[in-house]
Amino acid sequence: MPIVNRIADFHDEITAWRRDIHAHPELLFDVHRTAALVEEKLKEFGVDEIVTGIGRTGVVGVIKGNRNTSGKVVGLRADMDALPIDEITPHEHASKTEGVMHACGHDGHTAMLLGAAKYLAETRNFDGTVVVIFQPAEEGGGGGREMVEDGMMDRFGIQEVYGMHNAPGLPVGQFAIRPGPLMASADMFEIEIEGIGAHAARPHNGIDPVVVGSAMVQAFQSIPSRNVDPLESIVISVTTFNAGKAFNVIPQTATMTGTVRTLKPEVRDLAEKRMGEIVEHVAATFGAKAVFDYQRHYPVTANDPEKTVFAASIASNVVGEDRVNTDTPPVMGGEDFSFMLEARPGAFIFVGQGDTAQVHHPEYDFNDEVIPIGCSYWANLVETAMPNNG
Ligand code: NI
Repeated sequence: MPIVNRIADFHDEITAWRRDIHAHPELLFDVHRTAALVEEKLKEFGVDEIVTGIGRTGVVGVIKGNRNTSGKVVGLRADMDALPIDEITPHEHASKTEGVMHACGHDGHTAMLLGAAKYLAETRNFDGTVVVIFQPAEEGGGGGREMVEDGMMDRFGIQEVYGMHNAPGLPVGQFAIRPGPLMASADMFEIEIEGIGAHAARPHNGIDPVVVGSAMVQAFQSIPSRNVDPLESIVISVTTFNAGKAFNVIPQTATMTGTVRTLKPEVRDLAEKRMGEIVEHVAATFGAKAVFDYQRHYPVTANDPEKTVFAASIASNVVGEDRVNTDTPPVMGGEDFSFMLEARPGAFIFVGQGDTAQVHHPEYDFNDEVIPIGCSYWANLVETAMPNNG
């Protein structure tokens, strides 16, 4: 079974939804127009139940198969939010909102899940229940976490959950997945250093927080190189360093922020612990004071091994076994589908988007050729997980 024929019939219609969403991007939890569009479409398809406002602006649709002897409930998830980027594509459907753009393809993810919902509500050729999940605030807002904390999994009885992301660089018609860690934990830290301000020509009268912060930045790099097993993965990046306003003044304070990415909880714990020790002791070494604030944002996106084998078999059904990489290397980007995977077993898969600009780039645009492939993956997943043997 390659592409589902009935879905191929909807290709133009789904493309039109995708471009409409693309032209009207929204940030984080403020996805009101997109959520309203999703709700309207789900109503039009005649799904059995629609609940809005889960995880603030998330939308959930329930579609019952024409049999329900299995008692199985499968969750499929798409994300709806865009990014604060100025789009520079020439397309007619380019963003109409200045400074906001669908640069990660969530417009495509939402449209593909809507396409699958339309097909599944029309055919209902499965024995069980599908829950289609449209989440806000994937890009740093933790919308997935909020939906889980709102009790979504229990409320709809979701037993397993699946997600999909487009992948620039992976050819159209290919999938990539791996069991275990697929994407990194993504944490944020902030360090406030208090020294003693002074005239820049008389540094001995002060304690220079720029020198203190620089020593910390250097020392942090000894964590990947000297504390973590060289065969494990970790990134520590200090990405902002703010201090001072004048060339001839040693500032009183300095502030640094950055991110830590890991693929294992124990590496994550070690990084947090060692960074805290470095901040405390480096500050003390220079006679400064420092406050270290480490915020755990997204956990590791960890695929359930058994569900990964299942998801890969579905991808193989759609595009052929030789076009599914089941051992793709993990990436150090974060993904808040990880919260759903912490709550229920499931798998996240990459779908090839072809040779396009990378995600989060101002020239990126979701590739509409991917639509029938992604929709067929969802449809086949449902019909295979809950076969209608009646
Ligand atoms: Ni994304």
